[in-house]
Amino acid sequence: MDLKNHIRGIADFPKPGILFYDISPLLAHAEAWKEAVDQLAEALRPHKPDLVVGIESRGFLIAAPLALALGTGFIMVRKHGKLPGDKVAHSYDLEYGTDTIEVQADAVKPGQRVVVLDDLLATGGTMAAAISLLRRVGADVRAAAFLVELTFLNGRDKLDVPSVSLLSYDS
Ligand code: PRP
Ligand code: MG
Repeated sequence: MDLKNHIRGIADFPKPGILFYDISPLLAHAEAWKEAVDQLAEALRPHKPDLVVGIESRGFLIAAPLALALGTGFIMVRKHGKLPGDKVAHSYDLEYGTDTIEVQADAVKPGQRVVVLDDLLATGGTMAAAISLLRRVGADVRAAAFLVELTFLNGRDKLDVPSVSLLSYDS
């Protein structure tokens, strides 16, 4: 199955000149979604994760079924202000301004092995921030993984862990 047949390019979203790779058709197609999760599970199983981490919001769509496939727990990295209780936060720079992500302080036991999932690797800022955040709560971050990588943005250069992407686009 060619999973690229289930990704839709939408021109000029969210801004003129940007080609948006929409994963909605893949998620809506039972076999394609399962195939994507199965392929990621196969790639990540050798890292022997204790936990799968999903990055809000589209990362959750891949990370939660992946955790079930791998037989691990699932934890959430969320945008600022969404999680209850004691949290650790990490701010990072965007093209304009900054953003903040958070994780619950007790989400990971010291030394637990985690893999971190997002739908898309673009500039890498989001994943690099999530990895820093997870290390601060004691995680042993073994790998990052994505459905889609925009290779022309060189986001992989910001990541100091092995990175897996199922589908790559060079423009
Ligand atoms: C998108 C995407 C990744 C991130 C990738 O999330 O889902 O999380 O951007 O970009 P980067 O590699 O340049 O950091 P977005 O914040 O748009 O929101 P969403 O997941 O809640 O839709
Ligand atoms: Mg996102």
